[in-house]
Amino acid sequence: MTLTPVLSRHWDSPDSWTLDAYRAHGGYDGLRTALSMDPDDVIALVKDSGLRGRGGAGFPVGAKWSFIPQSRPDDETANPAAQKPHYLVVNADESEPGTCKDMPLLTANPHALVEGAVIAAYAIRARHAFVYLRGEVIPVLRRLQAAVDEAYAAGLLGVDIDGSGVDVDLVVHAGAGAYICGEETALLDSLEGRRGQPRLRPPFPAVAGLYACPTVVNNVESISSVPAILRNGVEWFRTMGSEKSPGFTLYSLSGHVTHPGQYEAPLGTTLRELLGYAGGVRAGHTLKFWTPGGSSTPMLTAEHLDTPLDYEGVAAAGSMLGTKALQIFDETTCVVRAVLRWTEFYAHESCGKCTPCREGTYWLVQILQGLERDGGSPGDLDRLLSVSEAILGKSFCALGDGAASPIMSSLKHFRDEYVAHHGHGGCPFDPARSTLFA
Ligand code: NAI
Ligand code: SF4
Repeated sequence: MTLTPVLSRHWDSPDSWTLDAYRAHGGYDGLRTALSMDPDDVIALVKDSGLRGRGGAGFPVGAKWSFIPQSRPDDETANPAAQKPHYLVVNADESEPGTCKDMPLLTANPHALVEGAVIAAYAIRARHAFVYLRGEVIPVLRRLQAAVDEAYAAGLLGVDIDGSGVDVDLVVHAGAGAYICGEETALLDSLEGRRGQPRLRPPFPAVAGLYACPTVVNNVESISSVPAILRNGVEWFRTMGSEKSPGFTLYSLSGHVTHPGQYEAPLGTTLRELLGYAGGVRAGHTLKFWTPGGSSTPMLTAEHLDTPLDYEGVAAAGSMLGTKALQIFDETTCVVRAVLRWTEFYAHESCGKCTPCREGTYWLVQILQGLERDGGSPGDLDRLLSVSEAILGKSFCALGDGAASPIMSSLKHFRDEYVAHHGHGGCPFDPARSTLFA
């Protein structure tokens, strides 16, 4: 497979983030096409494209849009939910460990998101759209707000967009840096001004989301991909990727790789191919393990180098595509230490709402710390598994599953290394050799 830069095509151009630079390459042509269509036809087109959510779960974008009650406010027979305001919320709270695609995208190409948000709001008949941005990234906040201001000044946001009679307002809201606020319902609570904690689903946001109104929550990359589909057509989009996972996407490579960064390629590209573009694992070292989509997705090993990185391919290998954050670890990395770092993160970020995650992540950290410090106690590996099993599938939201997954997958692939910690009376690795956890 070759690289297929679409979202990242002009990242290196001077002032790529400005409206002039974006328009010089066909920016906002997709919006003009969308505004000339019926909103239902825009939804049908995005459905036909097969675009799947790029935030991790891969839910079909067009299907999600179509869940919003479609009847027009002037239709007397309409579903009462159609009479409520509809909202679009863009999830820009990118926080999954290793995930670093939405922030560069917003920095270098923020107008793709603004254009996509107006198209999506038009399609679902929303007057108001929000971008919930991770709070710590002040430069990204400034860059995105500047793009929004430019779009307002150019008549591409606000009242009577581009003379179409369509009105859409876009508000950029900065969160306060809690990982759980990336979970869509916790995000909505936070946006409403409350403490961000997951809500029970169903009802899904499409039925009762922001202010209990029908709401579409989509990831930054998903929304930013929409203008190119409007501009170039469904067939073009489907020339990339597979039948069930079509299109281009941003893969983020980090860790022990020669040239870390974002690589935009068709879904289904393999890690072996991506490593070819990224100069391979750092010189003189070999691949030990990697994550396909951030630390919440079960780790894979060198035996999975040729796994197609699409939803079906990664699932067949026993993991999940997730955020496509490929974290690469070479043979100098202690797997127990890496898993401890991740587990400390989940324990810190657990919102405390449900017992399996709140208590379980605490105990997982205690056991892993013991293994690293002095080899732990007999029965620790069984305890790790039983606590993980008590979290997996029994927690209120996906954070709990994410916390259990690195432990269970590392025990599957590297049980001997855990046993070696017992035998050695602590971590057998020389921390000075690892550049990641020094
Ligand atoms: P999910 O599979 O439960 O839902 C995916 C989307 O589909 C949601 O928007 C949900 O509202 C919608 N949906 C699902 N079933 C529906 C139905 N019957 N009716 C209407 N809408 C429906 O996944 P979830 O919990 O939203 O996300 C988990 C994923 O998030 C993980 O796979 C992980 O990879 C990813 N993640 C991403 C992070 C990031 O920084 N981008 C951080 C943490 C996790
Ligand atoms: Fe909160 Fe964790 Fe329960 Fe999710 S799984 S609701 S983060 S305690």
